[in-house]
Amino acid sequence: MSGDAALIEATLVRLAERGIELRHGLYERFFAAYPARRADFLCPEATSVRMTDETLQMMYGLAAEESWVWPLVAELSYTHRTYGQLPLEEYEAFVDLTVATMAGALGDDWGAAEAAAWGRQADRLKAMIAKAQTDWERVLPR
Ligand code: HEM
Repeated sequence: MSGDAALIEATLVRLAERGIELRHGLYERFFAAYPARRADFLCPEATSVRMTDETLQMMYGLAAEESWVWPLVAELSYTHRTYGQLPLEEYEAFVDLTVATMAGALGDDWGAAEAAAWGRQADRLKAMIAKAQTDWERVLPR
């Protein structure tokens, strides 16, 4: 297992052990930044579980060089077209806020090594989402 994957796994175990759910704080921060988006979420109490978990899974999968990450990101980008025009900036903010919310929740259990590992994988995920968006617009322009 790569260094980033091991660190990321350890962070996820710490979150689970401490019973921390990121989604509530994460959504509050996301809606504070993009208030108009709140209305697009019909059932956030249910869907925030999967949206948050998949974001974490994608970064963990990238760190472990898993081949399923790209198909999952491509599918995410396609299905999210049904929610309207979602600018890349909002995806980037959601990924960054996921990491920032985790950092805030873990306090002393979060250090420079964790920040670097998650930061690297967040950058890779954002680049992959950008590629998926561009590819879909090219093959299926709206
Ligand atoms: C890496 C980033 C993201 C991932 C992995 C992700 C994943 C998901 C998943 C798996 C669902 C389906 C949940 C379910 O049916 O249980 C979902 C729903 C949804 N996503 Fe995302 N999403 C991401 C970013 C975003 C962003 C930036 C927006 C912008 C507003 C967004 C808007 C929505 C909306 C409106 C729904 C439907 C929610 C509802 O009806 O309650 N997503 N997302």
